[in-house]
Parts: sequence; structure tokens; C-alpha cells
Amino acid sequence: MPIDFDTPITIKGHHSQKHDEMQKYLGIREEDAIPMWVADMDFAAADCILDALRAEIDNGFLGYFGDVGPVSEAVCNWISQRHGWDAEPDWISYCHGVVAGFATALEAFSDPGDAIIVFSPVYHSFFGKARAKGREILESSLIERDGRFEMDLDALASSLTGREKILVFCSPHNPGGRLWAADEIRAVAQFCETHDLILISDEIHMDLTHPGARHIPTITAATNALPRLVVLTAASKTFNMAGGETGMVIIPDPKLRETYRKAHAALGGTPNRFGMIMIKSAMTDGGPWLDAARAYIAANFSLWHDRIGALPGIRVMNMQATYLSWVDFTDTGLSEEEISHRIGVDARIAASPGKAFGTGGALHKRFNLALPRARLVEAIERLETAFGDLQ
Ligand SMILES: Cc1ncc(COP(=O)(O)O)c(C=O)c1O
Repeated sequence: MPIDFDTPITIKGHHSQKHDEMQKYLGIREEDAIPMWVADMDFAAADCILDALRAEIDNGFLGYFGDVGPVSEAVCNWISQRHGWDAEPDWISYCHGVVAGFATALEAFSDPGDAIIVFSPVYHSFFGKARAKGREILESSLIERDGRFEMDLDALASSLTGREKILVFCSPHNPGGRLWAADEIRAVAQFCETHDLILISDEIHMDLTHPGARHIPTITAATNALPRLVVLTAASKTFNMAGGETGMVIIPDPKLRETYRKAHAALGGTPNRFGMIMIKSAMTDGGPWLDAARAYIAANFSLWHDRIGALPGIRVMNMQATYLSWVDFTDTGLSEEEISHRIGVDARIAASPGKAFGTGGALHKRFNLALPRARLVEAIERLETAFGDLQ
């Protein structure tokens, strides 16, 4: 039976940040508002995951989780089959979500006052967590060329202060939906080697490529990065189970891994039982669900790109991965407030404000396209009306 992404499931009222906190965070209170901000999907999780959770509950034991080996085996098989990367189970540590793993890596590999490099615009939590831990941020602006982002490592090199300890690489890129090429990844790794930086490669969106597109893991492109590489990833984004708050920190180098694990031990404990159960079942049996979801999302993007991209002054960035669409309203000539008003009030759509993604985010919004097609069409029609007067 084909997997049904068209029929809406009941989400509102079920402790959904995306559906139930639009008013709290964005001031949007209308009952018929369409949430397109927080990065989870409006789809039911795969049956294999739901069955695994039911079996766990039916068994009745909800104590501390141990014996992570079988979960790590499933993860390694998945990464090997999907991405051609042969990781070893022992390289994997589990954390309470990728952001928590990121924060722990900051503790492990830098000190307050050190600087962290990010390529902006980029996922907003990198800024929040680094600043909360007293680290400075050095932003390296991505350049938009031929409708996609590129890094400028020469400009970055000339802006270094000597306080930089870590470079954060988001691959695939959120919000640009960019898959980086092997030579670009190699250049980043080389940059880290030259400037003696820890390379944190956030690959949480690795599985959410559009059909036909391929994610290249940092480690397969740049084996020389191995002694300084910290990979953050998860099954949570891929399989829409982010509420399980379980991420993975994969560190091939034993000394680096030991340093990370010490920092982790000082902060947290054993992994979330439900998160681990979900990872194991998703990465063992979730392939068909994922491939159907990827195709559905790509078709959503194509519709969105054709119609929203046709509105005068509005540019939809082309994407090869993720379900998060980066939209540039600069050429509409409208102010930030006018754009937000038309989207949030006139169209009643909750989108992520571009400014949260750092330099380059002004006059942009990020829209989550992982929703049933009919809802997406409704959102498109509302935006066409809200911006219908543009020439
Ligand atoms: C690049 C990136 N890293 C991390 C996260 C969040 O990870 P988690 O929910 O596991 O903390 C997101 C969520 O959108 C993301 O886009």
C-alpha cells in the first residue's frame, strides 16, 4: 500500500511546538493559521517506528537504557548503505538531541572567549548555544551565486582573529538546502587543518536529499579531516521523530572522542529510551517510508518553487535537500515589517524569520514544506493573494 502523506493527522493540541506555539513565538493566533516554521513534518511517523514504540510499552520496562551496541550497529549499516561511509559502532555517542551534542562539543573543544566560525545564514541554534556558553561567533558570509550558496574561504581566512577554535559546517545546508560538492568539503577540511580548528560537521539533514541527489559525508570527501572531525547527526529529522530528542555524535579519532565523552559525562547520562528504540527501528526498516517522503517533499518543492518563485520580486532558492525552503523577498521592495505582516497576518502563515539565521537573513523567510499537499496549495494561494499586488 502506498504511504499516505495526503491525509492530515491531528497535531494541534498534541503538544506540538509548531502548531501550538505560533502565538507564543510569532504572535499568530488565528485558528486557521498554517505553521511552516519549526522543522518537523506534518506527517505520521513510519509504521515500523510506531510498532517498535508500542512493543516497548507493551513490555512494560521503562528503566534506564543500556547496551547501545545493537542501535549503533543499525546506525552503521544505515550510514554504510545510504552514504557509503563505514563508521565503527564505537565511534558513536548518543546525546539528548543534536543541539545538546553541539553544546557539549563546544564545552569539550573550546573555552569561554574562544571564537566559533559559522557560514551564515545558517541554523539559528548555533548562534544561540555558542553565545549562551560565552563563545564569540565569527560569521563567514555565504555568497549566492547562480541561485545557490557558496563559501568564501579566502575572505574567511583574512577575517580570522586567532581566537577561533571550532568551525561549524552545516551539510546539507540549512536554510539553503545545498548539498556540498566533494571539493568544497575538502577545502573546508583543509582550512581546518591549516588553522588548527576542530571541524564540527552537522549532517542532521543527510538523509533528506531529493530523489537523485546525493549527500557526501564530510569524512568520505576529506579523510584528512579525521583527527579533528566531530560529526553531528540523527534519525530525528529524517524520520520525523524529533520529540524523541536523541542525536548522535560520531567521532572517529579516539582522543577526540574521549574528550567529548568526558564533557558529556559531566553534563548528561544515559540516552532517552524511546529515542533509541526509534532510531533502531527507523534505521533498520524505515527506508521505504523515507524514500516515499523524499519524493513527496520534492514534489511539494517543485510546486512551491513554480508558483511562489513566479511572484514578482520573490526568489525561492533552489534546493537539493531538506524540506526547508529559503525565500528572498528583497526585490519586492517591501520592508521587513511589511513582509512579515503580509505573511503572518494577511496570509496567516507562520514562517521562520530570516534574521534568526544571521548575516544575510534580513528580508528572507524560511518555509517548511513537509505538509500535506492540499495544505501546501492553500498556503501558496494565500501568499499569492497577499503579494498579488506586486508588479
Ligand atoms: C542543522 C540542524 N542541526 C540541528 C537541528 C536540531 O537538532 P535536534 O532537534 O536534534 O537538537 C536542526 C533542526 O532543524 C538543524 O537544522
